[in-house]
Amino acid sequence: MTPDQSPERPCLLAAARGFVGSSVGAKALMALSGLGLIGFLVVHMGGNLQMHLGPEPMNAYAKALKGQPLVLWPARLGLLGMFLLHVGLAFHLNAKNAKARPIAYASDRAVASTWASRHMLLTGALVLAFLGYHLAHFTLGLTHADHFALVDAQGRHDVYAMVVHGFRSPVVAGSYVLAMFVLALHLSHGFGSLWRSLGTSSPALVDALRKAGIAVALAITLGFATVPIGVVAGTIGREVPRLDAGGPPVTELGAAPGGREAGPVRVAGGVR
Ligand code: HEM
Repeated sequence: MTPDQSPERPCLLAAARGFVGSSVGAKALMALSGLGLIGFLVVHMGGNLQMHLGPEPMNAYAKALKGQPLVLWPARLGLLGMFLLHVGLAFHLNAKNAKARPIAYASDRAVASTWASRHMLLTGALVLAFLGYHLAHFTLGLTHADHFALVDAQGRHDVYAMVVHGFRSPVVAGSYVLAMFVLALHLSHGFGSLWRSLGTSSPALVDALRKAGIAVALAITLGFATVPIGVVAGTIGREVPRLDAGGPPVTELGAAPGGREAGPVRVAGGVR
């Protein structure tokens, strides 16, 4: 029998299609992709906390990440895949629910539901909009090309100075803090409820995981929010000269204003 004639392949494919097509399967996949995205957020938040340690650790960390293309690109593709799956399934399940219940309940206020649980699609869409701006800001350099072009005295992308300059705008810093509040709402329900989608049924465990979800959401979002708040409060980035302040185009390593090591350099008038 050739592999094409094997009766098992169509069976497995049909089972996989049936699993994804069923609400239970789609919810389980949504929970797993959500868990993966939370994992990314924990790692990203941990990396960002190095902003509190100064330019050297932050820029060395960013350079080390980008210096591993065999790890970076599969991780980026995996992240994109999880993200598309998560968003796609959210719309799929929402459409399926609307079809199954075309007439809204007289009262939408379901017993024991919270504002966060009833507005997951809204908070998810707002996080998506934030992400679009965030990638244009720090990853693609589309919104602040002059900040993105900075390099430090060692010739590395000056991620530290880029973030500091970005958050010196109170509007940008405030938008990030607001986005972290929305993310906290999304995660507080998402992380608490995903375990039910993965089959947890014990009420005591479900309740404990719901509380853990709130704690995890707060830890992640407060961790992120400390960076824009730190820049506005002046605890992060005091050594970074203002771009509009003029002065010498290059600040040598070890001679940065404020006595910190590895001050930012503006090469050829701010362009790398
Ligand atoms: C205050 C909060 C945040 C700060 C300061 C921040 C900072 C950054 C920076 C500096 C980069 C570029 C890193 C580099 O080029 O080396 C980046 C990339 C990224 N951030 Fe954030 N981030 C924040 C919150 C978030 C949140 C909440 C999400 C997701 C919802 C997120 C998702 C991403 C993604 C997907 C990338 C691209 C990663 C890649 O290039 O592979 N960030 N962030």
